[in-house]
Amino acid sequence: MGTQKKKAAMDSKEFGLVFAQQVTGLEDLHYGFWDDSVPAPSLMHLKAAQDRYTEQLTETLESHVPAKARILDVGCGTGKVLTHLSLRGHKVDGVIPAPHLEKRVRDKVDTHGLESKVWGLTMEELPVEEVTGQYDAVLFSESFQYIPYEVSLDHAKKVLKPGGVVVICDFFKTEHAGDGQPGDKSFGGGHKYHEFESYLNSSKWSVLENTDITAETSPNIDLLDKLLRKHIGPAVSTLDIYMSGKHPWVLKLVKAIFKKKFTKLKFKYLSGHRTQEVFERYKTYRRIVLKISS
Ligand SMILES: C[S@@+](CC[C@H](N)C(=O)[O-])C[C@H]1O[C@@H](n2cnc3c(N)ncnc32)[C@H](O)[C@@H]1O
Repeated sequence: MGTQKKKAAMDSKEFGLVFAQQVTGLEDLHYGFWDDSVPAPSLMHLKAAQDRYTEQLTETLESHVPAKARILDVGCGTGKVLTHLSLRGHKVDGVIPAPHLEKRVRDKVDTHGLESKVWGLTMEELPVEEVTGQYDAVLFSESFQYIPYEVSLDHAKKVLKPGGVVVICDFFKTEHAGDGQPGDKSFGGGHKYHEFESYLNSSKWSVLENTDITAETSPNIDLLDKLLRKHIGPAVSTLDIYMSGKHPWVLKLVKAIFKKKFTKLKFKYLSGHRTQEVFERYKTYRRIVLKISS
Protein backbone atom coordinates (compact mmCIF):
# COMPACT_ATOMS: atom_id res chain seq x y z
CA MET A 1 0.00 0.00 0.00
CA GLY A 2 1.11 3.56 -0.73
CA THR A 3 3.02 6.05 1.31
CA GLN A 4 2.94 9.44 1.97
CA LYS A 5 3.22 13.01 2.88
CA LYS A 6 0.54 14.58 5.11
CA LYS A 7 -0.90 18.01 4.59
CA ALA A 8 -0.61 20.11 7.72
CA ALA A 9 -3.92 21.93 7.63
CA MET A 10 -7.36 21.14 6.27
CA ASP A 11 -8.36 23.62 3.61
CA SER A 12 -11.87 25.06 3.39
CA LYS A 13 -12.99 22.83 0.49
CA GLU A 14 -11.96 19.74 2.40
CA PHE A 15 -13.57 21.07 5.57
CA GLY A 16 -16.93 21.33 3.77
CA LEU A 17 -16.68 17.76 2.49
CA VAL A 18 -15.53 16.21 5.75
CA PHE A 19 -18.12 18.22 7.72
CA ALA A 20 -20.94 17.16 5.37
CA GLN A 21 -19.86 13.54 5.60
CA GLN A 22 -19.75 13.66 9.40
CA VAL A 23 -23.12 15.46 9.74
CA THR A 24 -25.02 13.25 7.30
CA GLY A 25 -23.20 10.02 8.11
CA LEU A 26 -23.44 9.19 4.38
CA GLU A 27 -20.37 7.53 2.92
CA ASP A 28 -20.85 9.04 -0.54
CA LEU A 29 -19.56 12.53 -1.18
CA HIS A 30 -21.21 12.88 -4.58
CA TYR A 31 -24.65 14.02 -5.71
CA GLY A 32 -27.55 11.64 -6.18
CA PHE A 33 -28.64 10.62 -9.67
CA TRP A 34 -32.41 11.05 -9.76
CA ASP A 35 -33.61 9.17 -12.82
CA ASP A 36 -36.81 7.13 -13.15
CA SER A 37 -35.30 4.13 -11.39
CA VAL A 38 -35.17 5.90 -7.99
CA PRO A 39 -38.10 7.19 -5.92
CA ALA A 40 -39.04 10.89 -5.98
CA PRO A 41 -36.38 13.25 -4.54
CA SER A 42 -36.46 13.37 -0.74
CA LEU A 43 -33.81 13.12 1.97
CA MET A 44 -35.08 9.61 2.70
CA HIS A 45 -34.17 8.54 -0.83
CA LEU A 46 -30.82 10.32 -1.04
CA LYS A 47 -28.84 7.15 -0.41
CA ALA A 48 -30.73 5.31 -3.17
CA ALA A 49 -29.99 8.18 -5.56
CA GLN A 50 -26.30 8.22 -4.58
CA ASP A 51 -26.13 4.47 -5.17
CA ARG A 52 -27.71 5.04 -8.58
CA TYR A 53 -25.03 7.67 -9.28
CA THR A 54 -22.31 5.09 -8.56
CA GLU A 55 -24.16 2.59 -10.76
CA GLN A 56 -24.37 4.90 -13.79
CA LEU A 57 -20.70 5.80 -13.31
CA THR A 58 -19.81 2.10 -13.19
CA GLU A 59 -21.90 1.34 -16.31
CA THR A 60 -20.08 4.12 -18.19
CA LEU A 61 -16.65 3.06 -16.98
CA GLU A 62 -17.18 -0.64 -17.66
CA SER A 63 -18.36 0.01 -21.20
CA HIS A 64 -14.85 1.33 -21.97
CA VAL A 65 -12.47 -0.89 -19.98
CA PRO A 66 -11.60 -4.62 -19.80
CA ALA A 67 -13.40 -6.90 -17.32
CA LYS A 68 -10.61 -6.67 -14.74
CA ALA A 69 -9.37 -3.17 -15.24
CA ARG A 70 -6.79 -1.08 -13.45
CA ILE A 71 -8.39 2.18 -12.40
CA LEU A 72 -7.06 5.33 -10.74
CA ASP A 73 -9.79 7.01 -8.67
CA VAL A 74 -8.71 10.64 -8.29
CA GLY A 75 -10.16 12.41 -5.23
CA CYS A 76 -11.67 9.16 -3.96
CA GLY A 77 -13.54 10.68 -0.97
CA THR A 78 -14.28 8.04 1.65
CA GLY A 79 -13.32 5.23 -0.75
CA LYS A 80 -16.89 4.08 -1.39
CA VAL A 81 -16.62 4.07 -5.19
CA LEU A 82 -13.09 2.62 -5.00
CA THR A 83 -14.42 -0.27 -2.88
CA HIS A 84 -17.48 -0.78 -5.09
CA LEU A 85 -15.33 -1.06 -8.22
CA SER A 86 -12.77 -3.28 -6.48
CA LEU A 87 -15.46 -5.71 -5.35
CA ARG A 88 -16.52 -5.96 -9.00
CA GLY A 89 -13.07 -7.32 -9.84
CA HIS A 90 -11.16 -4.20 -10.82
CA LYS A 91 -7.88 -3.13 -9.21
CA VAL A 92 -8.42 0.41 -8.08
CA ASP A 93 -5.88 2.84 -6.62
CA GLY A 94 -6.89 6.12 -4.98
CA VAL A 95 -5.59 9.67 -4.70
CA ILE A 96 -6.89 11.50 -1.65
CA PRO A 97 -5.36 14.69 -0.23
CA ALA A 98 -7.61 15.06 2.86
CA PRO A 99 -6.03 13.14 5.79
CA HIS A 100 -9.41 12.53 7.48
CA LEU A 101 -10.79 10.99 4.31
CA GLU A 102 -7.58 9.12 3.58
CA LYS A 103 -7.99 7.29 6.88
CA ARG A 104 -11.49 6.20 5.86
CA VAL A 105 -10.18 4.96 2.52
CA ARG A 106 -7.37 2.99 4.19
CA ASP A 107 -9.84 1.46 6.69
CA LYS A 108 -12.02 0.23 3.80
CA VAL A 109 -9.02 -1.11 1.90
CA ASP A 110 -7.93 -3.04 5.03
CA THR A 111 -11.43 -4.28 5.87
CA HIS A 112 -11.93 -5.71 2.39
CA GLY A 113 -8.33 -6.90 2.02
CA LEU A 114 -7.90 -4.91 -1.20
CA GLU A 115 -4.60 -4.46 -3.00
CA SER A 116 -5.26 -0.80 -3.63
CA LYS A 117 -2.48 1.73 -3.47
CA VAL A 118 -3.63 4.91 -1.67
CA TRP A 119 -1.81 8.18 -2.20
CA GLY A 120 -2.37 10.79 0.50
CA LEU A 121 -1.59 13.50 -2.02
CA THR A 122 -3.25 15.88 -4.44
CA MET A 123 -3.39 14.89 -8.11
CA GLU A 124 -0.89 17.68 -8.75
CA GLU A 125 1.57 15.93 -6.39
CA LEU A 126 1.06 12.40 -7.76
CA PRO A 127 4.42 10.82 -8.65
CA VAL A 128 3.35 9.90 -12.19
CA GLU A 129 6.72 8.31 -12.97
CA GLU A 130 5.88 5.51 -10.49
CA VAL A 131 2.73 4.54 -12.39
CA THR A 132 3.41 5.52 -15.99
CA GLY A 133 1.31 3.55 -18.50
CA GLN A 134 -0.43 1.43 -15.84
CA TYR A 135 -4.13 2.28 -15.89
CA ASP A 136 -7.07 1.42 -18.14
CA ALA A 137 -9.03 4.37 -16.74
CA VAL A 138 -8.54 7.50 -14.68
CA LEU A 139 -11.72 8.45 -12.85
CA PHE A 140 -12.74 11.90 -11.60
CA SER A 141 -16.00 11.55 -9.69
CA GLU A 142 -16.83 15.10 -8.61
CA SER A 143 -13.15 15.84 -8.13
CA PHE A 144 -12.34 17.28 -11.56
CA GLN A 145 -13.38 20.80 -10.52
CA TYR A 146 -10.75 20.98 -7.74
CA ILE A 147 -7.73 20.42 -9.98
CA PRO A 148 -6.46 22.55 -12.90
CA TYR A 149 -7.67 20.51 -15.89
CA GLU A 150 -4.40 20.86 -17.78
CA VAL A 151 -2.67 19.07 -14.87
CA SER A 152 -5.37 16.39 -14.58
CA LEU A 153 -5.28 15.52 -18.25
CA ASP A 154 -1.52 15.77 -18.56
CA HIS A 155 -1.04 13.36 -15.64
CA ALA A 156 -3.83 11.10 -16.93
CA LYS A 157 -2.15 10.91 -20.33
CA LYS A 158 1.05 9.68 -18.66
CA VAL A 159 -0.48 7.09 -16.34
CA LEU A 160 -2.92 5.60 -18.89
CA LYS A 161 -2.14 2.50 -20.95
CA PRO A 162 -2.46 2.98 -24.71
CA GLY A 163 -6.21 3.08 -25.43
CA GLY A 164 -7.07 3.97 -21.81
CA VAL A 165 -9.83 6.44 -20.95
CA VAL A 166 -10.56 9.35 -18.63
CA VAL A 167 -14.05 9.37 -17.07
CA ILE A 168 -15.25 12.66 -15.61
CA CYS A 169 -18.51 13.11 -13.73
CA ASP A 170 -18.69 16.65 -12.41
CA PHE A 171 -20.24 20.06 -12.88
CA PHE A 172 -18.85 23.03 -14.80
CA LYS A 173 -19.75 26.73 -14.94
CA THR A 174 -22.09 27.73 -17.76
CA GLU A 175 -21.76 30.86 -19.89
CA HIS A 176 -24.09 32.62 -17.37
CA ALA A 177 -21.43 32.59 -14.63
CA GLY A 178 -20.43 36.13 -13.74
CA ASP A 179 -23.63 37.73 -15.10
CA GLY A 180 -24.13 39.57 -11.79
CA GLN A 181 -27.72 38.38 -11.30
CA PRO A 182 -28.86 37.66 -7.71
CA GLY A 183 -28.03 33.93 -7.85
CA ASP A 184 -24.67 34.40 -9.52
CA LYS A 185 -22.53 34.01 -6.41
CA SER A 186 -24.64 31.31 -4.75
CA PHE A 187 -22.70 28.37 -6.13
CA GLY A 188 -18.92 28.17 -6.28
CA GLY A 189 -16.90 25.56 -8.05
CA GLY A 190 -16.49 24.14 -11.50
CA HIS A 191 -14.24 24.94 -14.41
CA LYS A 192 -15.69 27.18 -17.14
CA TYR A 193 -17.33 24.70 -19.50
CA HIS A 194 -16.72 26.63 -22.71
CA GLU A 195 -13.05 27.13 -21.90
CA PHE A 196 -12.71 23.42 -21.17
CA GLU A 197 -14.48 22.55 -24.43
CA SER A 198 -12.11 24.81 -26.41
CA TYR A 199 -9.16 23.24 -24.61
CA LEU A 200 -10.35 19.76 -25.61
CA ASN A 201 -10.94 20.83 -29.21
CA SER A 202 -7.37 22.00 -29.50
CA SER A 203 -5.93 18.93 -27.75
CA LYS A 204 -5.26 15.33 -28.72
CA TRP A 205 -8.18 14.05 -26.61
CA SER A 206 -11.15 12.51 -28.44
CA VAL A 207 -14.50 12.84 -26.75
CA LEU A 208 -16.17 9.40 -26.63
CA GLU A 209 -19.11 10.63 -24.55
CA ASN A 210 -20.34 13.98 -23.29
CA THR A 211 -23.75 13.72 -21.65
CA ASP A 212 -25.54 16.53 -19.87
CA ILE A 213 -26.83 15.04 -16.59
CA THR A 214 -27.76 18.33 -14.92
CA ALA A 215 -31.46 17.39 -14.72
CA GLU A 216 -30.67 14.09 -12.97
CA THR A 217 -28.32 15.68 -10.40
CA SER A 218 -29.89 19.10 -9.68
CA PRO A 219 -32.73 17.75 -7.45
CA ASN A 220 -30.00 17.44 -4.81
CA ILE A 221 -29.82 21.21 -4.67
CA ASP A 222 -33.53 21.48 -3.95
CA LEU A 223 -33.18 18.99 -1.08
CA LEU A 224 -30.22 20.83 0.41
CA ASP A 225 -31.91 24.22 0.00
CA LYS A 226 -35.02 23.00 1.86
CA LEU A 227 -32.90 21.39 4.59
CA LEU A 228 -30.90 24.58 5.11
CA ARG A 229 -33.79 27.01 5.07
CA LYS A 230 -36.40 24.93 6.91
CA HIS A 231 -34.19 23.36 9.57
CA ILE A 232 -30.64 24.71 9.78
CA GLY A 233 -31.65 28.40 9.35
CA PRO A 234 -34.23 28.31 12.19
CA ALA A 235 -31.81 26.32 14.40
CA VAL A 236 -29.11 28.99 13.91
CA SER A 237 -31.66 31.72 14.79
CA THR A 238 -32.58 29.87 18.00
CA LEU A 239 -28.90 29.68 18.95
CA ASP A 240 -28.58 33.39 18.17
CA ILE A 241 -31.51 34.26 20.47
CA TYR A 242 -30.15 32.03 23.25
CA MET A 243 -26.63 33.47 23.02
CA SER A 244 -27.80 37.10 22.88
CA GLY A 245 -29.78 36.52 26.12
CA LYS A 246 -27.13 34.52 27.98
CA HIS A 247 -23.79 35.70 26.60
CA PRO A 248 -24.40 38.96 24.65
CA TRP A 249 -20.73 40.06 24.75
CA VAL A 250 -19.44 36.74 23.51
CA LEU A 251 -21.94 36.81 20.66
CA LYS A 252 -21.08 40.43 19.77
CA LEU A 253 -17.40 39.61 19.74
CA VAL A 254 -17.84 36.48 17.59
CA LYS A 255 -20.07 38.40 15.17
CA ALA A 256 -17.60 41.28 14.94
CA ILE A 257 -14.69 38.94 14.21
CA PHE A 258 -16.54 36.80 11.67
CA LYS A 259 -18.83 39.52 10.25
CA LYS A 260 -17.72 39.11 6.63
CA LYS A 261 -17.79 35.31 6.79
CA PHE A 262 -21.28 35.26 8.37
CA THR A 263 -22.70 37.65 5.78
CA LYS A 264 -21.24 35.55 2.98
CA LEU A 265 -22.48 32.26 4.45
CA LYS A 266 -25.93 33.74 5.15
CA PHE A 267 -26.20 34.99 1.57
CA LYS A 268 -24.90 31.75 0.14
CA TYR A 269 -26.99 29.28 2.11
CA LEU A 270 -29.99 31.05 3.64
CA SER A 271 -31.02 33.84 1.28
CA GLY A 272 -33.14 31.67 -1.00
CA HIS A 273 -30.85 32.13 -4.02
CA ARG A 274 -29.40 28.64 -3.84
CA THR A 275 -32.21 26.89 -5.69
CA GLN A 276 -32.34 24.09 -8.24
CA GLU A 277 -33.32 26.64 -10.90
CA VAL A 278 -30.31 28.84 -10.11
CA PHE A 279 -28.01 25.80 -10.14
CA GLU A 280 -29.30 24.84 -13.58
CA ARG A 281 -28.62 28.35 -14.86
CA TYR A 282 -25.04 28.53 -13.63
CA LYS A 283 -23.87 24.90 -13.77
CA THR A 284 -23.84 22.14 -16.30
CA TYR A 285 -23.26 18.68 -14.81
CA ARG A 286 -21.48 16.43 -17.31
CA ARG A 287 -20.52 12.80 -17.74
CA ILE A 288 -17.56 12.84 -20.09
CA VAL A 289 -15.35 10.06 -21.47
CA LEU A 290 -12.06 10.95 -23.15
CA LYS A 291 -9.47 8.92 -24.99
CA ILE A 292 -6.15 10.11 -26.33
CA SER A 293 -5.97 10.09 -30.14
CA SER A 294 -3.02 8.18 -31.50
C1 LIG B 1 -17.02 15.91 -3.84
S1 LIG B 1 -15.73 14.86 -3.28
C2 LIG B 1 -15.97 13.45 -4.28
C3 LIG B 1 -15.49 12.21 -3.61
C4 LIG B 1 -15.66 10.90 -4.38
N1 LIG B 1 -14.93 10.92 -5.62
C5 LIG B 1 -17.09 10.58 -4.61
O1 LIG B 1 -17.52 10.48 -5.76
O2 LIG B 1 -17.82 10.38 -3.61
C6 LIG B 1 -14.27 15.62 -3.94
C7 LIG B 1 -12.98 14.88 -3.65
O3 LIG B 1 -11.92 15.52 -4.33
C8 LIG B 1 -10.78 15.55 -3.49
N2 LIG B 1 -9.85 16.59 -3.94
C9 LIG B 1 -9.91 17.92 -3.74
N3 LIG B 1 -8.84 18.53 -4.29
C10 LIG B 1 -8.09 17.55 -4.88
C11 LIG B 1 -6.84 17.54 -5.60
N4 LIG B 1 -6.19 18.67 -5.84
N5 LIG B 1 -6.36 16.35 -6.03
C12 LIG B 1 -7.04 15.20 -5.78
N6 LIG B 1 -8.22 15.16 -5.11
C13 LIG B 1 -8.74 16.32 -4.66
C14 LIG B 1 -11.37 15.76 -2.10
O4 LIG B 1 -10.49 15.37 -1.06
C15 LIG B 1 -12.60 14.84 -2.18
O5 LIG B 1 -12.24 13.54 -1.83
